[in-house]
Amino acid sequence: MARVRVTRRLHFSAAHRLFRSDWSEERNREIFGDCSNPRWHGHNYELDVTVDGEVDPETGFVMDLARLKEAVSDRVIGDLDHRNLNLEVPWLEGLNPTTENLAVAIWERLEDSLPKGVRLARIVLWETPRNYVEYTGE
Ligand code: NI
Repeated sequence: MARVRVTRRLHFSAAHRLFRSDWSEERNREIFGDCSNPRWHGHNYELDVTVDGEVDPETGFVMDLARLKEAVSDRVIGDLDHRNLNLEVPWLEGLNPTTENLAVAIWERLEDSLPKGVRLARIVLWETPRNYVEYTGE
């Protein structure tokens, strides 16, 4: 049976500040640059969620993409879109919201939400059209 990877792209906009409370303002500014602005700033994120599984001979699908969209919307996008990632998302509490940390947290939100026989293969999170991070659960 052919194993195929399928990707759904979703979008969210959110505010954040990269910051460590155990560092001085100067140190935060030096390491995190503009992303440490104390008065926040936003990004338009793109999130690519890739799943891997066998092609169902009956439907020709690995999984119904509408179901994947629903799972990502329910577990991730609904909590993040138009929110402040430092202040408003319980499952990001205490986390410095770098794109790397967000990708891992999003993975953990999604990994047990998929139908039997389908596994999460890759998360790609775009913070800008030029920067993205990739996480495969390793
Ligand atoms: Ni930023």
